[in-house]
Amino acid sequence: MKIPFNKPLVTGKEAEYLSQVIKSGKFSGDGEFTQKCSEILQQETGCLKAIMTPSCTAALEMAGFLCNLTAGDEIIMPSFAYVTTAGAFAQRGVDIAWCDIREDTKNIDEKKIESLISDRTKALVILHYAGVACEMDVIMEICRKHHLILVEDAAQAIGCRYRGVPLGKFGDLAALSFHETKNIQCGEGGALLVNNPAMVERAQVLRDKGTNRIHFDSGMVDKYTWVDLGSSFAMSELQAAFLYPQLLELEAINGKRLETCRLYRQKLSGLFPPGKMPVIPFGIKDNGHMFYIMLDNLRERQRMIEFLDGNGVMAVFHYVPLHRAPFWKGKYHDISLPVTDRVSETLLRLPLYYDIAPGEVEYITERIGLFPGCVEYFV
Ligand SMILES: Cc1ncc(COP(=O)(O)O)c(C=O)c1O
Repeated sequence: MKIPFNKPLVTGKEAEYLSQVIKSGKFSGDGEFTQKCSEILQQETGCLKAIMTPSCTAALEMAGFLCNLTAGDEIIMPSFAYVTTAGAFAQRGVDIAWCDIREDTKNIDEKKIESLISDRTKALVILHYAGVACEMDVIMEICRKHHLILVEDAAQAIGCRYRGVPLGKFGDLAALSFHETKNIQCGEGGALLVNNPAMVERAQVLRDKGTNRIHFDSGMVDKYTWVDLGSSFAMSELQAAFLYPQLLELEAINGKRLETCRLYRQKLSGLFPPGKMPVIPFGIKDNGHMFYIMLDNLRERQRMIEFLDGNGVMAVFHYVPLHRAPFWKGKYHDISLPVTDRVSETLLRLPLYYDIAPGEVEYITERIGLFPGCVEYFV
C-alpha cells in the first residue's frame, strides 16, 4: 500500500461543466463560470468584490500593486510562509520586517507585531496557517491604530471563520488558492478578495492588463485603452468551470476533511500531547486543510519521514524560513526568530485528501506508533 501526501479533488461533475465551456466557445476570463465562482465567493466571504485569478500568487501580486508600495517602504509578515507570500511584495522593492510566529497555531505572533512597526511600515501581511485564523481582534486594532494596509494570505483558508466572520473578510485585500493541493482546486487557480472600496475599480483595471475594459464592457466608454499598470490576471473559463462544482460543495468537502482530522487526532492522542498536533483556539472554525505532528528535532523528523516512506506513507515538511532564503543574499541573516526556526525543523504534515479512507488513517497512525521515538511521548 502506497499512501500519497495529496490527491487532487475531482467531484465527478467537472467534465459536464467543462464541456459546456467547449460548446459555448468562450474560453477566456470573465465569462459565465468565472462570474458564478466570483458570486459564490462574494456570498461565502462577504467581500466587496471577488476577482478570479490564475493563481493565489497572481492575487498576491495584485495585492502588491494595489498597496502602492515602492522601494524604501516596509511590510511586516511572518518568515514561516510560502515563497510568493513574500515574493509578491519583494517584487515591489520593499524591505520586510520579519515577525516570529506563535508556538500553538504557527500564525504570526500578534504580540510581536507592534515592536516591528517603523515610519516606513505600510502594510501587514498575515497568513492563516492550515486555515486556522490569526488573532484577528488584536491584528485589526494594530492596523487601525497604525494606519496599516492589511493583506490576508488565505490560500489555505476557504470556508474558515474567526468568531463567526469568514477569513478573507478582514483585510483590505485577501488571496485564496485553488491549487491542486488545496481543499477545492482547479489545477492552478486563485482569487483576490477586495474589501476596501477604494481598491475595487483599480483591482479590475490591474486584472485587465491595465486597461479600462470594465468601463468599455459596461458601456461607459466606446473603446478601451491603457490607463494604469496591470497584467494578465484573469482566470480562464476552463479553470472556473472545473472549480464551480467544487465550490458548490465546499461545506461537505471541508466537513469530510475535518472528520479525517478528528480521526487522526483521536488515533494519535496516546502518542502526541495536544500541543504537538494542530491547535484550534476557541472561537475559530477551520476547514481541515492540514494535519501535522511536531517532532522533537530535525533529526527525529528526518527519521520519521524515512520510516513512514519505508512503510509506504508520504509525509512532507515546510516552510524553510523565508528571511534566510538565498534570494536575500544574507540581508536578513542576523534576525532571530526562534519559534519560526523550531517549527520549520520539526513540523511534519501527514497525508490528507478528500477521499482518504479511515483505514488509511488508521494504518498511518499505527505505523507512527511503531516509530521508536514515539514511546517517549507516553511518559
Ligand atoms: C499559504 C500559501 N500562500 C500562497 C500560495 C500560493 O498559491 P498558488 O499556488 O495558488 O499560487 C500557497 C500555495 O501553496 C500557500 O499555501
